[in-house]
Amino acid sequence: MNTPELIRRKREGGTLSEEELRFLIEGYLAGGIEEYQISALLMAVFFQGMTPDEAATLTRIMMNSGRTYDWSTVPGPKSDKHSTGGVGDKVSLILAPLVAAAGIVNPMVSGRGLGHSGGTLDKLDAVPGYRWNLSEKELKAQLEKVGCAIIGQTNDFVPADKRLYALRDVTATVESIPLICASILSKKAASGTESLAMDVKCGSGAFMESEEKARALAEQLVAIGTQLGLKTSALLTQMNQPLGITVGNALEVRESIDVLKGGGPSDTRGITIELCAEMLVLAGRAPGIDPAKKTLVELLDSGRALEKFTEWIEAQGGDPHIVDNSSLLGSAPDRTSFVAKDNGVIQCMNTRQIGVAANMLGAGRMKTTDDVDPAVGLEVLVNVGDEIEKGQELVRIHHRGGKGLNDCERLLADAVETGEDSVRSLQPILHRVSARA
Ligand code: URA
Repeated sequence: MNTPELIRRKREGGTLSEEELRFLIEGYLAGGIEEYQISALLMAVFFQGMTPDEAATLTRIMMNSGRTYDWSTVPGPKSDKHSTGGVGDKVSLILAPLVAAAGIVNPMVSGRGLGHSGGTLDKLDAVPGYRWNLSEKELKAQLEKVGCAIIGQTNDFVPADKRLYALRDVTATVESIPLICASILSKKAASGTESLAMDVKCGSGAFMESEEKARALAEQLVAIGTQLGLKTSALLTQMNQPLGITVGNALEVRESIDVLKGGGPSDTRGITIELCAEMLVLAGRAPGIDPAKKTLVELLDSGRALEKFTEWIEAQGGDPHIVDNSSLLGSAPDRTSFVAKDNGVIQCMNTRQIGVAANMLGAGRMKTTDDVDPAVGLEVLVNVGDEIEKGQELVRIHHRGGKGLNDCERLLADAVETGEDSVRSLQPILHRVSARA
């Protein structure tokens, strides 16, 4: 096969067959096809797109590029959730034990945060003793006993995505719907789940800022996931303000425990329940969204989801006493209040910038080699549409001796816009895409 000819065909809007895609991806991983050729191919895909069949084929090839998990011998329906990434998104920490308490097996393979958005593994690093690198045998035993596990990606897990994602990051080809679908779905299919609820974030803190683009991504994810044999649905959720109150790793674990105790911010609780309800319906554990939500509310309010959380954390080596003693998660030594300059109404928030402001304190990394400080972060005490008074604390900054504080305050001043117009509060769920009739 002739690589330049294949790139030219894609550049002109043609399609590539399974054999041709396999030749390109496997050749790239084996070293026979050069990085600059794959870069050109990615740019051609970026501009010309892919047919749904082509994207599904690419996903399958990527999925089979390394180890895959098979949980068919573990009793119970396997279901998972994936978020396209946002600020303050701690849903996985609540969702995994909540669905496990409802009888679902949730094998979740998570990543670290990069750029403005957080990562579940960084949040779990705030839990003393937590181990994300379970062997396959340990993972299977935990899924059988507890029903959920959150682990990290090993080097042999979907290596094609690891290589292609790094290349997309430096060739300005990340925001391509077929490439995003192939990247996400290859990893989810390789993790051994049978169904998938997608949380497609939409707004200033999301990959997809416009609702139109987020809807298109959600529709493609559902179509390609379904084509791969993965029962898939998607919710479009709000990212024009951070999810919940906290942004930062230990702070987000604390908020998650509050929700598991039956409290916590209503948007964090509400979005988690909606995504879990999708999973219950996809997995055949509930006849519809409303009965599923009723079950989930009972599991949260009775403390059964919290018991499952404790069981899961302990099974992965974490200190279960964090549930009753949140100081074990560590806290930053210093607090500074970011206050309102005038009376008014919160008009809008640049959520991406709020994520970057938290990273300036050390809560996240801007490059993969940066260290993360689990204790620092933000409590965002207001929402879009709230009336505020001069001098009111809008954001509580948890920092370590002023590290990054000036940059953080500068970014917050720019990110939180106040004015005199009244503004409606933001809806947490914007749209639902389902392959169900
Ligand atoms: N998340 C992924 O895993 N891959 C993408 O391409 C985008 C978001």
